[in-house]
Amino acid sequence: MSERKIEIRALIRAAVAAREQAYAPYSRFQVGAALLTQQGEIYTGCNVECAAYSVTQCAERTAIGCAVSNGCTRFAAIAIVGGEGDRTPVKKLCPPCGVCRQMLAEFCDMNNFKIILAKSEEEYSMYYLKQLLPLGFGPGNLEG
Ligand code: THU
Repeated sequence: MSERKIEIRALIRAAVAAREQAYAPYSRFQVGAALLTQQGEIYTGCNVECAAYSVTQCAERTAIGCAVSNGCTRFAAIAIVGGEGDRTPVKKLCPPCGVCRQMLAEFCDMNNFKIILAKSEEEYSMYYLKQLLPLGFGPGNLEG
């Protein structure tokens, strides 16, 4: 197996493990995310729900918060695994919500940042952030 494939599988594995910590008593939809930094470190997150539903935090933004809190602000890829029930493969791919796409744009090069939507380590699809957030507004738009 290529080194790249091994790296993707490790990232998905980390997202699957993070998903086990999901706090989703209201939706029962558990999500795990694993962010790969430009330096090769992995930071993970799960969704955290709240009885005041709108306060809920997605797994992707939990992972971003975790990475930034540890001094990392440049990312290369994220793996996301989400669905009901605690097994993989999950039934469907879980694309990031619009708010999370926007937050990812803050810390990533949209042309190169990869979003890996996984059902399991074997079943996944890969996109660039640019594809999922075309003509997105980013830090560059505030310059000049
Ligand atoms: N959720 C995520 O964690 N990430 C996404 O990209 C989509 C949705 C969570 C939020 C909520 O806890 C549950 O999934 C159902 O929307």
